Amino acid sequence: MNTEINTVVAVVGPGAIGTTVAAALHEVGRKPLLCGRTPRDHLTLQDGDRFITVPGPVQTNPKQIARTADLVFLAVKSTQIDAAAEWLKALTGPETVVCVLQNGVEQLDRLATYSLPGQIVPAVVWFPAQAQSDGSVRLRGDARLSLPDTSASRVVATALQGTRCSVDLAANFSSLAWRKLMQNAVAGLMALTHRRSGMFGRADIARLTLAYLQECLAVARAEGAELGDEVPQDILDKFRAAPADMSTSILTDREAGRPLEWDIRNGVIARRGRVHSISTPISDILVPLLAAASDGPG
Ligand SMILES: NC(=O)c1ccc[n+]([C@@H]2O[C@H](COP(=O)([O-])OP(=O)(O)OC[C@H]3O[C@@H](n4cnc5c(N)ncnc54)[C@H](OP(=O)(O)O)[C@@H]3O)[C@@H](O)[C@H]2O)c1
Repeated sequence: MNTEINTVVAVVGPGAIGTTVAAALHEVGRKPLLCGRTPRDHLTLQDGDRFITVPGPVQTNPKQIARTADLVFLAVKSTQIDAAAEWLKALTGPETVVCVLQNGVEQLDRLATYSLPGQIVPAVVWFPAQAQSDGSVRLRGDARLSLPDTSASRVVATALQGTRCSVDLAANFSSLAWRKLMQNAVAGLMALTHRRSGMFGRADIARLTLAYLQECLAVARAEGAELGDEVPQDILDKFRAAPADMSTSILTDREAGRPLEWDIRNGVIARRGRVHSISTPISDILVPLLAAASDGPG
């Protein structure tokens, strides 16, 4: 396994998260291969007043990939993995590490479908970044990833060493991923109401949110996550303390009429609940509504 800093790195899906990672690598002189859908001659990351330009071009044809990469960052939305699978097949060999920069707790299961020869590393992405209408990306926090503490994760940590994107190898990765998932699941309510964080100031929404989070917590614990009784209230408090006009990516996607990541963020609670015979009455109402909002018909 290659742990050298001159690792050949590819970024598949140079959107908000992919551009941030590509810019972090570029800033320290590493040159990621950019694999996307929309042709661009460069990527731009804006951090405050600072603009970082990553030279392209963004490749758009997986058939033109001549060799496998040592490390692939997969940063398409979960709804776009099928369409991006040709990139993964072209870039992945037996020694390749694929680091999945996506929300959720099912990164390994989802990628297993493609029988890739390399090793898959899930990540928790902690930073917010936003694609702008001109294709540039605004970074809205310190770039930070958590990965499980494994040898494959160390390939990722080494590649990002010394960059603005910090990596922590977490012994309790599964608990971190479930906690982040619970936060993402609640944000799904915003896509249904078309409202920003201010909506959590309503007493009825606060009650619904807490009840939903208790349901999520029961499933998370059944899956082995070690999360305390205080977690639901902490998550609700965070939404209530946020600026009332704070949005979230699932609401942005809803407003733009794009497919929603409802399955990995909300569907998963009901699905994993069924495995453990835990009833999920709130999910059973929310999930079909989110699925229909995302995928129609109508
Ligand atoms: N953004 C955040 O703040 C944030 C924070 C935490 C976690 N996440 C998670 O990170 C993941 C990525 O989110 P994101 O916000 O970075 O999404 P995004 O901005 O929509 O980026 C996705 C990128 O993938 C590209 N793409 C789509 N189909 C492709 C294909 N077939 N082949 C290659 N590239 C393709 C898109 O190209 P186009 O330019 O053509 O659309 C776009 O550049 C999601 O799971 C999200 O939930 C995001």
